[in-house]
Amino acid sequence: MTEKQLRDLMGGMTLEEKVGQLVQCGAGQFIQNSMEITGPEGEMLPAEELNRVMGSVLTFEDASQAKALQDKHLAADRNKIPLLLMLDVIHGLRTTYPIPLAMGCSFDDDLMTECADMARRESAACGVHVTFNPMVDTARDPRWGRILETNSEEPLVNARMGAALVRATQGNDLSDPENVACCVKHFAGYGAPEAGRDYNTVDMSERQLRETYLPAYKACLDAGARLIMPSFNALNGIPSVANKWLMNRVLRDEWGFRGVVISDFNAVGELVAHGMAENLKEAARLAMEAGCDIDMMQNAYYLHLKDLIAEGAVSEEMLDAAVLRVLRLKNELGLFENPYHGADEEKEKAVYLCPAHREIARRAAEESAVLLKNEGILPLSRTLKKIALIGPFARERHLVGFWSRPGAWKDAVTIPEGIGAILPDCELVMEDGCGAEIGDADGSGIERAVAAAREAEAVILALGEPEGDSGEGRSRAELTLPGLQTELARRVIAANPRTAVVLFNGRPLVLTELEKVAPAILEMWYPGTEAGSACARLLFGLANPCGKLSAGMPRSVGQCPLPYNRMNTGRPKPGPDGVPVPFSSCYLDMGNLPLYSFGHGLSYTTFEYEDLKLSGDTMQAGGSLQAVVTVKNTGEKAGKEVVQLYMRDPVASVVRPVQQLIDYRKISLAPGETAQVAFTVTEAQLRFWNFDCECVSEPGMFELSTGYADHLKLTRSFRLI
Ligand code: NOJ
Repeated sequence: MTEKQLRDLMGGMTLEEKVGQLVQCGAGQFIQNSMEITGPEGEMLPAEELNRVMGSVLTFEDASQAKALQDKHLAADRNKIPLLLMLDVIHGLRTTYPIPLAMGCSFDDDLMTECADMARRESAACGVHVTFNPMVDTARDPRWGRILETNSEEPLVNARMGAALVRATQGNDLSDPENVACCVKHFAGYGAPEAGRDYNTVDMSERQLRETYLPAYKACLDAGARLIMPSFNALNGIPSVANKWLMNRVLRDEWGFRGVVISDFNAVGELVAHGMAENLKEAARLAMEAGCDIDMMQNAYYLHLKDLIAEGAVSEEMLDAAVLRVLRLKNELGLFENPYHGADEEKEKAVYLCPAHREIARRAAEESAVLLKNEGILPLSRTLKKIALIGPFARERHLVGFWSRPGAWKDAVTIPEGIGAILPDCELVMEDGCGAEIGDADGSGIERAVAAAREAEAVILALGEPEGDSGEGRSRAELTLPGLQTELARRVIAANPRTAVVLFNGRPLVLTELEKVAPAILEMWYPGTEAGSACARLLFGLANPCGKLSAGMPRSVGQCPLPYNRMNTGRPKPGPDGVPVPFSSCYLDMGNLPLYSFGHGLSYTTFEYEDLKLSGDTMQAGGSLQAVVTVKNTGEKAGKEVVQLYMRDPVASVVRPVQQLIDYRKISLAPGETAQVAFTVTEAQLRFWNFDCECVSEPGMFELSTGYADHLKLTRSFRLI
């Protein structure tokens, strides 16, 4: 349709019909649905009444449901305006790839593209028009259960991976039924709730917000994302969905965003609970004024917008502008011509869990695993005849993590299945040892586990957090392995020191006690459908670990939040970490550094870095220079290395971080092979938000280093003139 046709269509709509375009309901109101919804359904109106006018629906199961929903609606809507069908496809639809935090550990934008591409194919076949992805909330506090949904504690990684996902999902032409529109979320600062408690308030300086939290959303919008979702939290006192500064000034005016804003689940209604609005009607007005186009899962708009317009409290122009944005999106998706978009039952059968998709998921699981520690235990020999596979995750199939489809876990490969495919003749003795639930104090299985460990040639100890313990509404105040798992590890490792621990969890955990006893720890996160295959291949050396932590692992929950790019202080702690220095910025009872830093990750081979060279010792404003480092594979196995480039601005008009990642590249090296890795460093990368909230660079010295957080090496300086 042309813009004129869209406007004419809108011109012929009643007020109620226009308001309907801004209403989003759960599919479960109209069809039988087993999908989980993540909030209260609110006061729902009769389904027939809604179906006639509503503009969009969320959370449906498959192509046949997508078609049924569309048919039912189009039969009732006199204007024949197709529904927008939206779904949370966060890390795959039927073929699940690793959780986003794990994907961040791959530091591999191309791999992200491949995974997003696979999710796009499956989503399109399912009939999805809009996915509520990417989530790019920078998060630095693992107590927050939704840290699992973000790629990293580092905004640069979130920006690059988020943008890669948007490009792969949307393609060049949204009317192509193979493409799906992206909704970036949660705008803004949702990843910084006080004390890591989900939905909690966020209070931070504008400078901090702009420097650390906003860039990733902006990068996704620059990559073309058509929708954005304001966050649940209050940001500096105003919930995002009603935050005019954030939504009108920053998003629409400064960034020029022309797409659709959709509230989070019942977030408009929650303005009442926030104490911002006296009732739902006022909530509807506040959200409209802040430019929120669609009201997800509440009837604030449906019940009150008409009256608000009649009373002159909301202008009809404002309503029209929002409706037009929604209609334009439908038009761009080609829905007026093809309301099913890509929904196709045959295609679903062809693409869901197809071998090519499983292969991508397996590779992603391998590349996002992080070898935290290895004292000569891994890889395990493929000649082993008897292995004890111990722990609550030993036979677990729930390895896909939050935001996977109900039942997706059933398609996941378990560890014994993965090992069986590689070593069919190896005897596996399996014992749970204990449970993994918070507060589970049943140690009655530990003795059996110890006995099994003693009699085996080697032990694989699979520990972690139950799938449901990280994700939305899943904050934790303790970050140790739940239940008796650490005790199980102590006992099993004492019985057989040839033990490799593998971990399945959705957040950085406090592994301080485990680290003291475990000779090898492989962090698998929730790896998705190919969990067991990837895990087995890594354990037995058919794949070489290359993941690096995308968020540091604290020594204690008391250190949180613990960003690697912490700010300088006036009393920095000199000397070795862990030794308190009187009257310096330190703890009396613990070091300042995490147990495992951001960017840490081992391999079965070793890499040496030498000779970081800069193309010059000065940089002009608006200019750039090259930083080249030589990396050599000094071990005996082929391996991949994530080469990380850090920057420090030692003197500036505002306090700067002690280290900041400014670029990364993943390379592959054969044994003995050497590569020269070149980074272009531009003046734009040296910029920061100054006291007056202007993004500037300041002349002076800068330092560039390789290595990883808190373990920088080969530092070189240059001057910006
Ligand atoms: C609530 C979550 O915060 C959001 O991320 C999600 O997209 C919506 N529910 C829809 O399921």
